[in-house]
Amino acid sequence: MSIIGIVSMKGGVGKTSTTANLAAALAAVLGPNRVSVIDLDPQDALHWHFGVDSKAGACKQAVRGGDWSGAIVESQYDVQCLPYGRASESEREAFEELLSQDAGWLGQQLEDAGLGDEGIVLVDVPPGPSVYLKQVFACADLILIVLLADAGSYATVPSMESWLKDMSVLRPELNSFYVLNQVDRTQVLNRDVTELLQGHLGARIAPICIHHDEVVREALAFRQPVVAYAPHGQASKDIAQLAAWLIDNLSP
Ligand SMILES: Nc1ncnc2c1ncn2[C@@H]1O[C@H](COP(=O)(O)OP(=O)(O)O)[C@@H](O)[C@H]1O
Ligand SMILES: [Mg+2]
Repeated sequence: MSIIGIVSMKGGVGKTSTTANLAAALAAVLGPNRVSVIDLDPQDALHWHFGVDSKAGACKQAVRGGDWSGAIVESQYDVQCLPYGRASESEREAFEELLSQDAGWLGQQLEDAGLGDEGIVLVDVPPGPSVYLKQVFACADLILIVLLADAGSYATVPSMESWLKDMSVLRPELNSFYVLNQVDRTQVLNRDVTELLQGHLGARIAPICIHHDEVVREALAFRQPVVAYAPHGQASKDIAQLAAWLIDNLSP
């Protein structure tokens, strides 16, 4: 199994959209029963991209002491989805307490969930440092850091880099790449920041960026991954290429 963590310091950069859309693009290539998404963000938004229900979910199931296999929902896009689920404040606190006490909890849970040796699991987490991010970092094979080509995202790079450096003491073998999202080459500032980031981060930026494309928002409104909603749009093309690049990077 390969575990990919989708992270960022800032919210609203497109972590959840990228997780969902990339998963659907991976499943379109790899076929059924190979790709799963796990929502570890209490916002509980990931399931919306697949049009599946979120009553049960990772949080409640964990607090009850059950394994996750019973709460994973099969979507019509060949992606298995585990929503964060609707949870009370006390359930969320109990879940976070559990995660803070056992650094290897997520890795073990994913092993036990029966997602298959050949499976690819994408995990969405809240922005910034959290118990969820720590868990993902402890078991991931690859971390994708989503950035916008704007000053706000640019400003977060030093803290993300120093955090990755600290974490690399524990996991020196862990790979991480930055992914630029909502790139718009018609905007001067967007173009300038893209170049600045590429100059600064070099090969640490994935070679494919995701362009700004209104159909990403529309697809969400229709509760579909963008690759299903608008397969020939720019964002879908970018995401399909990113998925192919990922498959190459995950291959041993
Ligand atoms: N490439 C894109 N083009 C246009 N809109 C996008 C793109 N990626 C994400 N969005 C929109 O940006 C908003 C924030 O995305 P979201 O995935 O929820 O971010 P995060 O999970 O980082 O908070 C959503 O409305 C989403 O539809
Ligand atoms: Mg999100």
